[in-house]
Amino acid sequence: MVAAHWTLVLSSVLVAVGAKAPFSLNRRNDGWPYPLDNTDLLEEKLLPKYEAYLNKKNANASSSGGCTLETAAKRQEWHDMTIPQREEYIRAVLCIQSKPPKANTTMYPGVKTRYDDFVVTHETQAMHLHSTPHLFPAHRLYIWAYEKALREECGYTGWQPYWNWGRTSVEPAKQPIFNGNMSSMGGQGLFSNYSGVPAMGTAKPYDMIPPGGGGGCVMEGPFKNMTVSLGPIGSVMPDLPKNPRADGFGANPRCLRRDVNKYAAAQTADNYTYALITGTKTIDQFQKVMLGTPEKGDWGVHMAGHYTIGGDPGGDFFSSPGDPLFWFHHGMVDRIWWIWQMQDPENRMGVLPDNPPKNDIVDLNWIGTGKANTYDLNDSIGGYGGEFCYIYV
Ligand SMILES: *[C@@H]1O[C@H](CO)[C@@H](O)[C@H](O)[C@H]1NC(C)=O
Ligand SMILES: *[C@@H]1O[C@H](CO)[C@@H](O)[C@H](O)[C@H]1NC(C)=O
Ligand SMILES: *[C@@H]1O[C@H](CO)[C@@H](O)[C@H](O)[C@H]1NC(C)=O
Ligand SMILES: *[C@@H]1O[C@H](CO)[C@@H](O)[C@H](O)[C@H]1NC(C)=O
Ligand SMILES: *[C@@H]1O[C@H](CO)[C@@H](O)[C@H](O)[C@H]1NC(C)=O
Ligand SMILES: *[C@@H]1O[C@H](CO)[C@@H](O)[C@H](O)[C@H]1NC(C)=O
Ligand SMILES: *[C@@H]1O[C@H](CO)[C@@H](O)[C@H](O)[C@H]1NC(C)=O
Repeated sequence: MVAAHWTLVLSSVLVAVGAKAPFSLNRRNDGWPYPLDNTDLLEEKLLPKYEAYLNKKNANASSSGGCTLETAAKRQEWHDMTIPQREEYIRAVLCIQSKPPKANTTMYPGVKTRYDDFVVTHETQAMHLHSTPHLFPAHRLYIWAYEKALREECGYTGWQPYWNWGRTSVEPAKQPIFNGNMSSMGGQGLFSNYSGVPAMGTAKPYDMIPPGGGGGCVMEGPFKNMTVSLGPIGSVMPDLPKNPRADGFGANPRCLRRDVNKYAAAQTADNYTYALITGTKTIDQFQKVMLGTPEKGDWGVHMAGHYTIGGDPGGDFFSSPGDPLFWFHHGMVDRIWWIWQMQDPENRMGVLPDNPPKNDIVDLNWIGTGKANTYDLNDSIGGYGGEFCYIYV
């Protein structure tokens, strides 16, 4: 009674001075076996600072297209979603994998579905998309466009999930994202005898990521019938059928392969992510540490996350979006960029690696987003001319 009374008094005071209650994430908290990690706690701690920054920015109503923390889409971690939410997401992915493509299939005969439109865009632009300063903003737009397609073309009512690597860093293949259930994103691949992945850095000899016990076709879960068509282009698997075209854009139907890899996953534990976010002061350092020093056995969370999925096309630099987990992985990359930004929003929202601005343009072509200036993709609330309006919870 007493507490309720004081809440009432307090809220009338807040209303009286025109303040609104501070934003709260309302994360799922029903005993699910993943306690909040240090990165989650840091995100919560930084939100008030970001909210203050947004309030200032939103004083000019047109600067965030009306988007606020309250109205923003909330992208959830896969394991925080309910089983029906996961199933709805999976249905949307299977749907987009069954829709006709928009790309020019004379030019790209390997493009068989709308999903392949996304894969071929990454393949044709891989070098460009990964150059500094493109990696973060271009992938932010790319994921957003995929989420939009799932919603608008396949009736999905949720948002793109992300994958908090730290939750799966010990036994990835046993976690609900990878365990092969019909409500997972598919399981481990069959055993394939290969020698592991050269973690490519600038210096030789390469450090090797040992094989994780899979590497063959994924035989369980919703994507067991998935047909991979484009590529391989930059694959690390030794025994893949060659694409009929030298550029990899021909039709090369084959199964989805994975090597859900605990050695790679070990370098995605939360202490790596937390150290990356808190230990880097400039955006150049942040990107550099994220990409690791692979030749020294420091794979970086970006590469380590990719090779926790591995296989084909997941382990192919050019074709990796062909594995439906790509979007979860780059969602986490996008999330930790955002958390890095929130530590000092006034100074970190507007910076990209390789400052000063070069007015680089991202053009995702037939994916249908139009052209974007990388510097306009800086803020997930109000970026892209006010069209971005999401956060990670
Ligand atoms: C508000 O933002 C818009 C778009 O960024 C800009 O054109 C305009 O000059 C701003 N107005 C003020 C008063 O700052
Ligand atoms: C598709 O690509 C082919 C081969 O490059 C080209 O001749 C054709 O004009 C393109 N079609 C469209 C609609 O752009
Ligand atoms: C999914 O996997 C969990 C273990 O993570 C298991 O308890 C559950 O029974 C599985 N559900 C189905 C439908 O296979
Ligand atoms: C894997 O291949 C290597 C080299 O061909 C061979 O020596 C080894 O016995 C194979 N291992 C298994 C488990 O098949
Ligand atoms: C795979 O294809 C077979 C044959 O078309 C079908 O019976 C089965 O339900 C499909 N499985 C999945 C997970 O889509
Ligand atoms: C993270 O923790 C592991 C084991 O606890 C340790 O080996 C590793 O060096 C730590 N990584 C960082 C970046 O601190
Ligand atoms: C984000 O990009 C826009 C457009 O280039 C730029 O005007 C703005 O200053 C950047 N945002 C921040 C917070 O720096």
